[in-house]
Amino acid sequence: MTATTPNELANTTRADASPLSASYPELVGKVAVVTGAGRGMGAVFATELARRGINVVAGDLDGAPEVADQINEEIAEGGRVVGLRTDVTEPGDHDRLLGAAVDEFGGVDFWINNAGIFPQAEFTEIPPAQLTSTYQVNVNGVVYGAQTAARHMRAHGGGTIVNMASVAAVRVRATRAAYNSSKAAVRHLTSCMAVELGSHNIRVNAIAPGFVDTEMTRWVREDPAALDRALSTVPLHRVGSPIEVFGALYFLLSDSARYITGAVIPVDGGSQHI
Ligand SMILES: NC(=O)c1ccc[n+]([C@@H]2O[C@H](COP(=O)([O-])OP(=O)(O)OC[C@H]3O[C@@H](n4cnc5c(N)ncnc54)[C@H](O)[C@@H]3O)[C@@H](O)[C@H]2O)c1
Repeated sequence: MTATTPNELANTTRADASPLSASYPELVGKVAVVTGAGRGMGAVFATELARRGINVVAGDLDGAPEVADQINEEIAEGGRVVGLRTDVTEPGDHDRLLGAAVDEFGGVDFWINNAGIFPQAEFTEIPPAQLTSTYQVNVNGVVYGAQTAARHMRAHGGGTIVNMASVAAVRVRATRAAYNSSKAAVRHLTSCMAVELGSHNIRVNAIAPGFVDTEMTRWVREDPAALDRALSTVPLHRVGSPIEVFGALYFLLSDSARYITGAVIPVDGGSQHI
């Protein structure tokens, strides 16, 4: 076997960001809340939902109003996007997201708990503050969002909640114990919510991305040795693109997934198996 040159590696490992042709016309006119929508996957979710006629309330600590303006400018015929500064660790901020959805669009059908942080530390050195903030954002933030969504949805005939878990919930990488365990909690909470909320016609599912091309993983792509190591755990041997995660999200929101609840859909190029 010949050795792979750095150029060849770069060419074969690139994310495939080509557009997605999937279309679920029954979702046109629906309303979604997306947290962590100021950049990364959340911003792509807001854009692609709007492109397909879904109205969006986008929340983030940083950048949500700006992203909303950009999307509204770019997509003339489609859903509208409202951006709000939001801290998902504050239950009241979820109430404000819901309030905006009700005031602007008349309610909410979909709630996507996407905001997350990805801190690093050797296990013995994890500072208490890192544990606290990781669980507050990645776990409490998901619970508060889902509670707010579910209270509204059960009073209005149902809805769909999607939580962002991670392959890290089932495949441990060193120096990420706080993150790994927070995503394992998201995975388990998804089951808990699906069981309790099913009788209210609320479906709750999770997506478990692997290595996806966003700011969160930029440092890996910029370090050839780290990239090589990361890709050695990806059977498809390339980075995933946010639009490929959106494909799973869009399906989960659609009527085609109406009998699916409590599922965790991996979008990871096969990483969960290595
Ligand atoms: N990128 C990956 O490879 C990958 C893999 C598995 C899972 N995920 C998960 O997918 C989700 C999105 O990740 P991403 O790659 O787009 O990350 P990202 O860092 O690009 O975006 C995350 C967003 O969440 C926001 N956020 C952080 N704390 C917040 C808070 N307290 N309140 C509101 N917003 C807050 C950030 O400001 C940021 O805009 C996260 O939950 C992440 O853990 C990502």
